Amino acid sequence: DSSLTVKKLAEKLEVEPNSLMQELIGLGIMATINQELDEDTIEVIADEYGYEVTTEPEEEIKEEDLGLNELVQDIEDNPEDLQDRPAVVTVMGHVDHGKTTLLDVIRKANVTASEAGGITQHIGAYQANINGDKLTFLDTPGHEAFTSMRARGAQATDITILIVAADDGVMPQTVEAINHAQAAEVPIIVAINKIDRHNAQPERVKQELTEYGLVPEEWGGDTICVPISALKKENIDGLLEMVTLVAEMEELKANPDRPANGVIVEAELDKGRGAVATVLVQNGTLKIGDSIVAGLSHGRVRAMIDDQGERIEEAGPSTPVEVLGFNSVPQAGDLLQVLEDEKEVRNLAEDRQSKKRQQDLGQKQTVSLDDLFEQI
Ligand code: GTP
Ligand code: MG
Repeated sequence: DSSLTVKKLAEKLEVEPNSLMQELIGLGIMATINQELDEDTIEVIADEYGYEVTTEPEEEIKEEDLGLNELVQDIEDNPEDLQDRPAVVTVMGHVDHGKTTLLDVIRKANVTASEAGGITQHIGAYQANINGDKLTFLDTPGHEAFTSMRARGAQATDITILIVAADDGVMPQTVEAINHAQAAEVPIIVAINKIDRHNAQPERVKQELTEYGLVPEEWGGDTICVPISALKKENIDGLLEMVTLVAEMEELKANPDRPANGVIVEAELDKGRGAVATVLVQNGTLKIGDSIVAGLSHGRVRAMIDDQGERIEEAGPSTPVEVLGFNSVPQAGDLLQVLEDEKEVRNLAEDRQSKKRQQDLGQKQTVSLDDLFEQI
């Protein structure tokens, strides 16, 4: 029953039916355009056109399987080398529910007027001092960076603030955020936002959240829900208090005295400065001059700029920092690591590039039998 007409096969292989019929003649088959071809013939013909016919549906090779984003040196830390590190907090929620407003309020409350003037460029992450505790906030543009990080197995966040607008309730991206956080086993603190609005229904939000396994503490569950207004700056302190509380319970540690590894939060090509990557250092300390590799990119740390726009020499665990010196733009979610010297990072990056090229080529050349028989 696995058959296909000459016409359909030509369409599948993106060749002229006439050319295909010529090939068939070469095989001793005089076929008309509507003639059905059997499986063996199809295989031989596909092969002639440079396709390899696989009998099983092609499984997409994941980047993880290729090892394009692996830590080659995952050093175990001795417990006695570990020190407290700031928690990394991500704000997630549906479009327009107030992520950026909240992050701005937290940030502004924590930079002095003069410092605020010094912030010239956007940085996708910053650190704030909350009642003596440092917290690192990640301002992921949409879910994209977070999604790609998770797809690449990078765990960048310790706590998720799930922001839900009280006048809108749980929406598709709210659910998506819950799924991400739950899959990564990251604690969720719910900020019920826009309580200043006349049509705010915080109780309805709580009710909706229970459908996704988030039962508020006041209803006997273990989900912390904090009503806030990011716009009117109401109860932001209350929210941050809960965040620091959860952060303390997590007992987050890292070893600052080792070569750094981290994750690319965002990256772009800057006209004047070349590839600029916002890196979250996760362990160790990143220093000027370090040889670095992230995904398919490599280089040497030429300069580092902190969230205040200041040049710095070193960045320790949980520090977000702009890094200059990559030879190309890495991708959000790529894992960064420091290796011995420039040769090592170059070799690793080039090795990954050639694996990637082979994969790209390989995928173009195979076509599955299922694909061939699928009706056009
Ligand atoms: P995207 O980045 O587009 O997903 O949106 P966002 O989640 O970052 O929301 P943003 O902070 O941009 O806020 C969206 C709108 O809601 C803006 O007009 C804010 O001024 C408004 N807004 C945010 N917080 C509050 C609040 O507490 N109360 C009221 N009334 N409006 C708010
Ligand atoms: Mg926003």
